[in-house]
Amino acid sequence: MVPRNSTILDIFAGTASVGAYLKQDYNIISNDIQNYSQIIAKSLIESSSIELTEETHHMIVKLEKEYVQNKEKLIKLFPNTYDESNSFVDIKKGEWTDKIREDYLHFVNKFPAPSNEFETSSEELSLLKDLYFDGNKSTYLQTVFLFSETYFSLEQAMDIDSIRFAIDTVIDDEIIKSIFLSALIYAYSYCSSGTGHFAMFRDLKDVSSVEDTFIYRKKRVWEYFIKKVDQIIEYHRYIPSRTYKTVSYDFSELLDSPEIIGTSLIYADPPYSFVHYSRFYHAIESLVKYDYDIPKFKGRYRSDRHQSPFCQRTNVLDAFRSLFEGAKKINSHVLLSYSDTGMISLDEITTLLIEIGFQSKVEQIQYDHSTLGRKGHKNNTINEYLIRATL
Ligand SMILES: C[S@@+](CC[C@H](N)C(=O)[O-])C[C@H]1O[C@@H](n2cnc3c(N)ncnc32)[C@H](O)[C@@H]1O
Repeated sequence: MVPRNSTILDIFAGTASVGAYLKQDYNIISNDIQNYSQIIAKSLIESSSIELTEETHHMIVKLEKEYVQNKEKLIKLFPNTYDESNSFVDIKKGEWTDKIREDYLHFVNKFPAPSNEFETSSEELSLLKDLYFDGNKSTYLQTVFLFSETYFSLEQAMDIDSIRFAIDTVIDDEIIKSIFLSALIYAYSYCSSGTGHFAMFRDLKDVSSVEDTFIYRKKRVWEYFIKKVDQIIEYHRYIPSRTYKTVSYDFSELLDSPEIIGTSLIYADPPYSFVHYSRFYHAIESLVKYDYDIPKFKGRYRSDRHQSPFCQRTNVLDAFRSLFEGAKKINSHVLLSYSDTGMISLDEITTLLIEIGFQSKVEQIQYDHSTLGRKGHKNNTINEYLIRATL
């Protein structure tokens, strides 16, 4: 659709994988309303504008020192809770009983959370609540407060906070920092006992679901983190001749900004369904922002959770209109990914494109979409559309 060396804007970048794939041949602008997407895009795309030195690898030694320091402080603050949590992690598969499951749930319910209005009978956990509500960051403890014994064991949460502390303490450069933060996002996602997202943690309704959950509780966050740092550094390619930019705006705001001057093609992969992405990935957003937001609802969502117009039946058509009109204003073609399970039909989209002045061509493939554990089966087969809109 556009010649090599032109500029492509991945306007709903998510994991930034499309921009990372195209970066060899095009200048890339990567955007998403979620801040974590910008961090991943910096580490996979923008990092190509700098040459990594040996020093980046050696930072691990410095990081480990700071990580150990924060973790030791956390263990000293919450020694009894730490021991109790680990006593459950140490239980072997096959040894769990319904009585132990109930004891564990009793332990979990002591943690301050929106569901108990942050009330706790434990002295240690009361201190945890006070430190978090005061925004006290002399010891990093955001994950310990937000997600201990839901997605992570207490020790895993301590590991996550301590790595986060080490990254902030040791690394100044924004791009290098993004590489280590992305590795931590990976470790966070792979050690979590959720079903690939953070919409809701498992309710431990029987021994079998507890045993399943505790498989993940034995994973070592530091090991996953180190492995991913190595992989990102190995993946890194220095491409000095290109321009890479990563931003985090609402798409309509971005279309009005000078940041995107020179764009030849907008690749748009907006949300398809009524479920907001921010509900699935709020925990990663918190990890990146590290801002001690006071969580809401049983799922402990962020108070500033973004509600996308692409997920709202009353707003989706206007959202597409503003996307296409914005593209037309900067004289850019659009390549749109959508599906037949989307909030509006293919007909509505192509009619809108013609009305605004684009010509459109549609390709269709069948695709297996993960149900993310919701429907009792792994995948749904859907039709994915690729709509080429040219001016
Ligand atoms: C289908 S996903 C994109 C997936 C991406 N192509 C990838 O490879 O991971 C849609 C993305 O749109 C983002 N999004 C939703 N509403 C937005 C808005 N108003 N402005 C910018 N980004 C938005 C979501 O945060 C989400 O990451």
